[in-house]
Amino acid sequence: MCGIVAYTGTRQAAPLILAALKKLEYRGYDSGGLAVMSDGVITVEKQAGKLRALEEHLGDELPQGVTGLGHTRWATHGAPNRTNAHPHTDGTGTIVVVHNGIFENFAVVRELLSEKGHEFLSETDTEVFAHLVGELYSGSLEGAVVGALRQMEGAYGVAVISSHEPGTIVAARRGSPLLVCVGEGENWVTSDAAATLEHSRSVVYLDDGEVAVVTPDEYRITDLDSTRLEKTIATVDWDLSEIERGGYEHFMLKEIMEQPESISDTLRGRLLEEEGGARLGGLHFSDEELLSFERIVLTACGTSWHAALIGEYMIEELAQIPTEVEYASEFRYRSPVLNDKTLVIGISQSGETADTLAALKEARARGARTMGIVNVVGSSIAREVECGVYLHSGPEIGVASTKAFTSQIVALTLLSLKLGRLTNLSVLQGRELVQALRRIPGQVREVLGRADRVESIAEEFKDSTNFLYLGRGYNFPVALEGALKLKEISYIHAEGYPAAEMKHGPIALIDEKMPVVFMAPRDAVYSKIASNIQEVKARGGRVIALVTDGNDDLDGLVDYKITIPETLDPLTPLLCVLPLQMLAYQIAVKRGTDVDQPRNLAKSVTVE
Ligand code: AGP
Repeated sequence: MCGIVAYTGTRQAAPLILAALKKLEYRGYDSGGLAVMSDGVITVEKQAGKLRALEEHLGDELPQGVTGLGHTRWATHGAPNRTNAHPHTDGTGTIVVVHNGIFENFAVVRELLSEKGHEFLSETDTEVFAHLVGELYSGSLEGAVVGALRQMEGAYGVAVISSHEPGTIVAARRGSPLLVCVGEGENWVTSDAAATLEHSRSVVYLDDGEVAVVTPDEYRITDLDSTRLEKTIATVDWDLSEIERGGYEHFMLKEIMEQPESISDTLRGRLLEEEGGARLGGLHFSDEELLSFERIVLTACGTSWHAALIGEYMIEELAQIPTEVEYASEFRYRSPVLNDKTLVIGISQSGETADTLAALKEARARGARTMGIVNVVGSSIAREVECGVYLHSGPEIGVASTKAFTSQIVALTLLSLKLGRLTNLSVLQGRELVQALRRIPGQVREVLGRADRVESIAEEFKDSTNFLYLGRGYNFPVALEGALKLKEISYIHAEGYPAAEMKHGPIALIDEKMPVVFMAPRDAVYSKIASNIQEVKARGGRVIALVTDGNDDLDGLVDYKITIPETLDPLTPLLCVLPLQMLAYQIAVKRGTDVDQPRNLAKSVTVE
């Protein structure tokens, strides 16, 4: 997704901005650019493609100046080319803007401005905003930006500089993350603390509807009515080394291999052995409040939505509270029936996904109670909800979510355990789950140690054009997740289905060219899935099956077997998903795709 970095201070801005933008590369983008101000002139440089292309274009001749801004763009309006790349300027080149998000009414504003003689170079909504700021400028950049924002509809994180006001950055946020990073004799505005962490850990998160006016020595935060706001300075407490590759070829591989630790981190201090329960410090609802919820709605997108499906099965089985799962993008635009007896839980790795954030706002507006299961501390979703559970799984950089998924399942298990102990789960059942959870990090390590097996399967199937993933019960969502992982990074078409649904359509696709991946651990639905495997074999399909250690029953039937250790049914997804992550990764590497930044994808989707 797009990234914003703006700097004002005493050092040369261009190299600082380029280095900071590189820290945001993991978010995915298709073009980059920067603008630097010197002696009343702003130089804008931009290029399509990776930052490398921009650097090559600039060579050793970096524009000079101590105030500037930069951007990595993920196209929303207009093709990902140089013209559409940010920064954008007004007609006079004195106002320069970078923007994340979408101005939805830009076409109308563009037409009005065209009638006044404005000429536009790009197809973007951002250029229209830059022209509007230029049109409204009459001695105050802050006033012009606020005036323009009042006329624009949609979501934004914007940073603006002007040659009329050297040394000043005006930034504003609505729906797209933005923060001020506070330094000594210099200040930054960025969309992600990772960009500026090496310069300062002190940050001020902007909330929706807030404006920051930033100079080298001070910053001022106001609302859109210019009322000054007192904001607390937060300290970023994670390290840059955590977002570097640590010797692995790709972030995705690092994050897959990190899962024993990331799961331990999600569990840390939360298991209550004696009581057979869970302690969730961030879950501020009292037991009475938790018991008052008649219904739970889990809302999310993508991989987080798959985790939500597993959560639905768990909460209903362990706590017997009616639970449903909603795509955030659908939920926010329909008319869901909600009241204060409904708990809406948003699940998100980034905490910035626009649809999930909007779904939670909608839920709150309709009277529901809200909580989050989020990885990124201080993110927009974390701040939107009443309370929540952090994953603590560390920064996830690879666009394909891996360790966040397993931590989401763990967090949902803890929540189910907590709720279950309040409703109908006995101490003994609770203890059994606690003990099984304790064993999970070691079992995850064991499965990851069997990567060689997956490698040979990846070699065999790397040129396939289609894959089918089938599972039942707790592992139906894992089938969806396995298919999504493969699609995302290898660009092979893959479908996930509940195994029994195969007979209602997908079975027509099965022939000797079709690899079918089955989740077949020994669980409550094992005998059913074994029959589904027979059905595929009878049609010549090539079966890759995940089975429990020691299970030889399917040996004559399946073409490739991957084994996982035994655990309780609700925890099998934590083990089954690992070989699927590895399979997708190995196939992508063999096909030579860009594993960490697959085409067209962004790490955090802050547009709807
Ligand atoms: C996962 O591999 C995807 N890249 C994507 O589906 C992701 O899970 C989705 O965009 C939701 O992101 P979030 O968890 O940050 O809200």
